[in-house]
Amino acid sequence: MTTVSDRPISSAHSSPRSLHTVPTATQRDSIVRLQQVTKVYTNGSRALENVNLQVRRGDFLFVTGPSGSGKSTLLKLLYGAERPTQGQVQVHDTNLCDLRGDRLSMLRRRIGVVFQDYKLIPRRTVAENVAFVLQAQGYARREIQRRLLPTLKMVGLQDKAERFPDQLSGGEQQRVSIARAIVSTPPILLADEPTGNLDADNSWQVIKILKKLNAVGITVIITTHDDRLVRMSNNPVVQLRNGRLFHVK
Ligand SMILES: Nc1ncnc2c1ncn2[C@@H]1O[C@H](COP(=O)(O)OP(=O)(O)OP(=O)(O)O)[C@@H](O)[C@H]1O
Ligand SMILES: [Mg+2]
Repeated sequence: MTTVSDRPISSAHSSPRSLHTVPTATQRDSIVRLQQVTKVYTNGSRALENVNLQVRRGDFLFVTGPSGSGKSTLLKLLYGAERPTQGQVQVHDTNLCDLRGDRLSMLRRRIGVVFQDYKLIPRRTVAENVAFVLQAQGYARREIQRRLLPTLKMVGLQDKAERFPDQLSGGEQQRVSIARAIVSTPPILLADEPTGNLDADNSWQVIKILKKLNAVGITVIITTHDDRLVRMSNNPVVQLRNGRLFHVK
């Protein structure tokens, strides 16, 4: 299990490449694996149909597909917000289908999640929104202080730490939500349409930040329906259509 002292976040942020040397064969093993996963919601909606997917440590994967094709459902299965109707979902070598309660919470601490609608706490400042995650996980105050500034720098918000969410642009709010997702240094980052509400410039800023995180070894899975982002990227892409998954590149 990752502990607070596992990864020196300050050095990761000040010198991204220093954290990771060339990955060994084992490190490149799969970190996420879906085997024959079908998800049918209780109302009968068929969201995923026999999906097989393997994501290796350090990958940056785009999941595309039209509205209703199952992108959010796929991510929800990965952080245990939904359970598959059939099949296996493995993250960090753990089968999520078997996890409940504390063990599920512990696994979730190793998965950062970014939502399209940011989900920031309105009456807390940027710094408090980000620190809140660590407080909830029982980090000591000094450790929280140690992590806060490098994380805000990473997303370019070091000068806006004392602002409230409604005093920020949409792009800035999304970057707070990225900071919140990564401040506990999870090895995996899931981003569900993180650019969905942003203009082209802000979308690129978000993608650049996610790529920087990927460069320090974080596995990134991002859903988007923005074909431009996908075309301009040289990362692997899978597409969902009516709950079925296709490898595009
Ligand atoms: N909680 C739910 N209960 C019932 N059906 C659901 C639920 N969540 C999603 N669905 C259905 O499952 C299918 C896939 O939905 P999902 O939200 O995964 O799609 P999506 O690709 O993320 O779409 P969008 O691009 O609009 O966000 C849709 O038909 C949707 O109506
Ligand atoms: Mg969605």
